[in-house]
Amino acid sequence: MEDFIDTDPAQARLGQLLFYDPILSGNRNISCGTCHHHSLSSGDGLSLGIGEGGEGLGPKRSPGTGADMIRKRIPRNAPALWNLGHRSVRVMFHDGQLEVSDQFGNGFDSPAEEWLPQGLDNILAAQALFPLTAQFEMAGNVGENAVTGAVHDRIDLGWPVLAKRVRTIPEYGALFVEAFDHIDHPSEVTIVEIGNALGAFIAAEWISIDSPWDDWLRDGRPLPAPAERGRQLFFGKARCGTCHSGPLLTDQGFHALGLPAFGPGRTRVFDPMPRDVGRMGETDLLEDAYRFRTPSLRNVALTAPYGHNGA
Ligand code: HEC
Ligand code: HEC
Repeated sequence: MEDFIDTDPAQARLGQLLFYDPILSGNRNISCGTCHHHSLSSGDGLSLGIGEGGEGLGPKRSPGTGADMIRKRIPRNAPALWNLGHRSVRVMFHDGQLEVSDQFGNGFDSPAEEWLPQGLDNILAAQALFPLTAQFEMAGNVGENAVTGAVHDRIDLGWPVLAKRVRTIPEYGALFVEAFDHIDHPSEVTIVEIGNALGAFIAAEWISIDSPWDDWLRDGRPLPAPAERGRQLFFGKARCGTCHSGPLLTDQGFHALGLPAFGPGRTRVFDPMPRDVGRMGETDLLEDAYRFRTPSLRNVALTAPYGHNGA
């Protein structure tokens, strides 16, 4: 357990409520849990997710029909959240859009650059702020609500709108005062405490350290024979372990495996091709084209479909 970040139980409980509350979406129609659900091993069971405006859960989730149909699928697969509170985790998203870094004085190199607020406890807390500003995930289309309008002006302007929504609900206000020492009155709650509560929940909730592999690592307890042959192959001849290394079976680096592209792609302003160039979208280096982060393989048997686009 010392390998995982410390979390406050009251903050984690508050984070659980927020995680499943559609109040954090612009149109109040989707929560984090829609795409990272307990019944779906913290994923959504889809190759490419259906964001705000969709209906239902998991493989049964529908994009709607006719005028009510969603405008676009989420271009990437929703990753599972297992063991992300591990202290070694330093980079998030399939292209590493978010990294622990001193660059902007707020602890992270993120899409919000210097506009990411100070005081976020860890990379999970910082991550939690970004689905909120994403049009097709949670924010909604311009003109539909105050959050997305504000985000359209500048990425950080939607967060105060959401923080006010949450803190003005008396039950939430009281829970924040209870869970955070420096909050004496609900009016002091900002998106930072919301992110910290969500981060505490994710870090505390999806810890999984009791697999046969963990027993092997910890106590040398032998693996079942087929698994032992797999382990030898994985770290030996098959060389999987050159990238899937360390406690989470990821080097947190970026590699091009050549997964087939499909879906709307993660288009960039000057590149309208429906493709996803992966890490290159972040670094603008040609050598990073189509490189994606090595995923963790913790509980991988539960988290299909696989790959950055679920291909
Ligand atoms: C519409 C579906 C959807 C919703 C809603 C959603 N997510 Fe995600 N989540 C995704 C997808 C897709 C990715 C991968 C995006 C990428 O890499 O570009 C992701 C990535 C993440 C990651 C990074 C995991 C990793 O290993 O890099 C975390 C943590 C996470 N989401 C937590 C949250 C939280 C907290 C919320 C609510 C505030 C939320 N998500 C809402 C689909 C969703
Ligand atoms: C060169 C580095 C590298 C090597 C070697 C490697 N992988 Fe991977 N693996 C990756 C990357 C990167 C991805 C994600 C690719 C993407 O999303 O486009 C991935 C994805 C996966 C996934 C899907 C996981 C998920 O959650 O989506 C599995 C399972 C997997 N690898 C198993 C293996 C096995 C088994 C081996 C050995 C036979 C292996 N890998 C060798 C880098 C590597």
